[in-house]
Amino acid sequence: MPLLPAALVNRLLPQLRPLRRGALASLVREDIFDFYGRLLHPQLQLHRVFARVLSCREEGDSSLVLTLAPSANWRGMQPGQHVALTVDIDGIRHTRRYSPSVLPGGQVEITVKRQEGGLVSGWLHEQAKPGDYLELGQAEGDFVLPATPPAKLLLLAAGSGITPLLAMLRALRAQAYQGDVVMLYYGRRRANLAHLTDLASFPGLRLHICLTGEAPGDGESSGRFSAAQLDELVPDAAERRAYACGAHGFVASVRAVWQARALPALADEAFTPPVWQAADDLPITLTFARSVGQLPGRTGSTLLEQAEALGLRPAFGCRMGICNTCSCHKRTGAVRDLRTGLVSTEPDEAIRLCISAPVGDVILDL
Ligand code: FES
Repeated sequence: MPLLPAALVNRLLPQLRPLRRGALASLVREDIFDFYGRLLHPQLQLHRVFARVLSCREEGDSSLVLTLAPSANWRGMQPGQHVALTVDIDGIRHTRRYSPSVLPGGQVEITVKRQEGGLVSGWLHEQAKPGDYLELGQAEGDFVLPATPPAKLLLLAAGSGITPLLAMLRALRAQAYQGDVVMLYYGRRRANLAHLTDLASFPGLRLHICLTGEAPGDGESSGRFSAAQLDELVPDAAERRAYACGAHGFVASVRAVWQARALPALADEAFTPPVWQAADDLPITLTFARSVGQLPGRTGSTLLEQAEALGLRPAFGCRMGICNTCSCHKRTGAVRDLRTGLVSTEPDEAIRLCISAPVGDVILDL
């Protein structure tokens, strides 16, 4: 039982600005403040955000919906962004990323799909309960709607890809959006699909369910995303601003159709890393200009993997190109974006180490 009431702690947190400045200037030991703060209340932390679990409910046959109340250190988020959620399992911290929805009142809803053999998803399904405190990172990511939502939208979701798109829909509903939205929602079986009741309640949303692992029912479709299916279900796709989210293979197949058809810009985000088979694994020279200097490298693995293999410890988060934590300044050289296959030769650009593989010699500010 915390010694301080949550309401008092959350009134106190915004007043800690001088201490935060002191921590930045190394005048205050943040770890010591956080240690003693935690004894008074789990949310009394200088920067870190702990969220209280308000409720846990099952959704579909494999998802758990957590409603969380973050502390006043939480800076909020735009729908479509993602956050890191960290849990302590047997004394070891484990972090996974989720795309929450913000509910009226500032609470955060996170949908956790149980992954086969998934340590964190399994732990949350079995152990999380109201009254627990879970650590949240601040929101990140640029998979968001523009400030003025387009009049016609197309949302393409596969599996857990529904969560950022649901967050966008909820935000649009809160703004009394009057536009025209079509959603194609893919899953293996109907029972796997989450939030169907909520989706059915969106005014004006045309929802098409597409099942890849069982026979479709009335008004549903079967099979994976394809150009033919797009033509059949969304003949006016070219007039719509499109957002796609799902596993890497799904997002890649959507992107391929958009590129082949030269359709207007697609915003997409994959929640699994690209599966990459290097066409070659040639020797090159990597220069880590601010640390170890020139070292031999290869074209067959990512810059993050190679930096780690050489003993460097660049910051990273998702390792799949969405959180930007591994962003690094490339001075010169060509790198391939493993999500798109595109090669960039621009000097002085920011690249993400986790999804960039060198194509030739590269100089990095690392
Ligand atoms: S670690 Fe998240 S973008 Fe590279």
